Amino acid sequence: MNADVFAASQELKGGGVVVLPTETVYGLAANALDAEAVKKIFAIKGRPLNDPLILHVLDISWLERYTHVEKFLPRIEKITETFWPGPITIILPKKEIIPDIVTAGFSTVAVRCPDHPTFRAVLKASNLPLAAPSANPFGYVSPTRIGQVKATLGDKVKIMLDGGECSVGLESTILDITCPTPRILRPGAITADAISKVLEEDVVDYDVQIVSQNPNAPGQLKQHYCTNTRLVLFEHGHREFSQYFAKKKAIVFMQRPNNPDEIAKKLQLPAEDIFWLSYDGNLDVVARNLFSTLQYLDSAQYDTILCERPPREGIGIAIDDRLLRAAAKFNG
Ligand code: TXA
Ligand code: MG
Repeated sequence: MNADVFAASQELKGGGVVVLPTETVYGLAANALDAEAVKKIFAIKGRPLNDPLILHVLDISWLERYTHVEKFLPRIEKITETFWPGPITIILPKKEIIPDIVTAGFSTVAVRCPDHPTFRAVLKASNLPLAAPSANPFGYVSPTRIGQVKATLGDKVKIMLDGGECSVGLESTILDITCPTPRILRPGAITADAISKVLEEDVVDYDVQIVSQNPNAPGQLKQHYCTNTRLVLFEHGHREFSQYFAKKKAIVFMQRPNNPDEIAKKLQLPAEDIFWLSYDGNLDVVARNLFSTLQYLDSAQYDTILCERPPREGIGIAIDDRLLRAAAKFNG
């Protein structure tokens, strides 16, 4: 076994907290069966105790240890066979063994099977279910590279494993399969359409308006993923930015403009203040670059970040959700 994986699993077994890569974002992990260890996650993130955590498991066989699967087996089998390991979290009734602190007192628990070799190696070595929120201070942009974690939590966690850049870049889709009609609580790379095809039944898609008022989606806060720098969104095709009085603004497009220099000139901005999240508009690439770009721009000397909204289709729904929540703080 790799020495880092061994050290991380020893730390977890001893009630410690470690930073681990997943395919979505970096996570801050602790033994989910140890309430004292889980408490440390909340303290390090500054996260309120009413915001429940996701339980990470190695495979489907672990589900039965921690959740009541009986009533939902057909749905569970279809989802896990198609999408696990991968970026989808399912909500199930929890068993007694899961401490209340993990689920914020709810009778359900969110379970996910991550698809990153390092995270999986630690699950295997420790043989523990791991509670792991994103490894960011509560409310801030989620990290997709180890450097971002070090910049914000570096002095608080001893063991941080570098797994490279997260391939998805947005948190997992959260699906409640305990409702009469399965419901998306948080949009992610795996879309309602894809899930509906696999389940062969309707899926209630995510609606930012409804979810922010829905008590079944604890922690789905209106404001989240926020930069410190003012973030303002604009629709595709918008080219008039003079109304944003800012000494130094960055403009972020989803796709490389045909002629960035011309755009810069038109907007009366230096060309280096124009950014794009993909060359060709591929939304998977946009998702992968979103959080790291926002965090980079937040640490650069801008007083306003103007960001284009993506088309609301496929993973664009999840990208737009993160942007809307991030900008909500600045909407007065
Ligand atoms: O991709 C991911 O899911 C990442 C990586 C690290 O696995 N984790 C992550 O965790 O995004 P976190 O804590 O940042 O977000 C977990 C979300 C919260 O919004 C929480 O409200 C929701 O999951 N959640 C947890 N348990 C729930 C439950 N029983 N019912 C409804 N929502 C729940
Ligand atoms: Mg988070």
